[in-house]
Amino acid sequence: MADKQVVKAGDVSQRVGVEVIAKRGVDVPKLIKMLIANAGAEFASTYYYYTILRMHLAGHEDYKEICEDARLEDRAHWELIVPRIYELGGELPNDLKAFHDQAGCAAAKLPDPPTVVNILTLLLESERCAIRSWSEVCDVTFGKDPRTYDMAARILNEEVEHEAWFIELLAHERDGKIVPSGHFRRGEPGHAPYSKNAGFYNP
Ligand SMILES: [Fe+2]
Ligand SMILES: [Fe+2]
Repeated sequence: MADKQVVKAGDVSQRVGVEVIAKRGVDVPKLIKMLIANAGAEFASTYYYYTILRMHLAGHEDYKEICEDARLEDRAHWELIVPRIYELGGELPNDLKAFHDQAGCAAAKLPDPPTVVNILTLLLESERCAIRSWSEVCDVTFGKDPRTYDMAARILNEEVEHEAWFIELLAHERDGKIVPSGHFRRGEPGHAPYSKNAGFYNP
C-alpha cells in the first residue's frame, strides 16, 4: 500500500504524478529545465536549421534524404517531449527568442563556406550534443521517473542512430573511408521508429 498522500482529494493545484517522482529523488524543477533546454535544441537548434542544411545538400540526393530523416525525427522528438514538460507542471517560454536562447545545444547554422564536408561535420556534432543531453535526462530519471526515462531513451535511440549515419557519410565524403552505420533507409521520411513507436525496418 502507498504511504501517506500529500496531494489532497480533489486538489487540482498539485499532481500525484509529480509527488511520486519527487519522493523517489527526482529534482523536478531541474528536470523541467533540462527538458525545456532539450526541447529547444530539438526544435530550434536542429529541426529549424536542419531545414536550411538539407536544402544546401543539393546534388547529393542521398545525403539530403538522410538529413531529412534526422530533421523530421528531431521534430518528432520535440512533439514527444513537450507534453511531458506540462505534465510535470512546467511550461514553454511564451517567447520564441527566449526559448531559442535556452536551448541546450548550439544552433546548427549553415556553415561558411557551406560545403558538403562542413555541413556533414555540423550535423555530426549536433547529433553528439543531442546524445549527451538525452543521456543526462536518462541518468536523472533512471529508476525514479519511468515515463520521462522511457521518452528520453526512445529519443536517445534515434540520436545514436543519427550519429552513426553522419559518421558514415562524413568518413566517406571527407576521408574516402568506409565506416558503416548499419543503416539502410527509413520506411518513410522521418519514420522515427522509436519516438513514434512505429515498426522497425525488419524485412
Ligand atoms: Fe533529436
Ligand atoms: Fe538527431
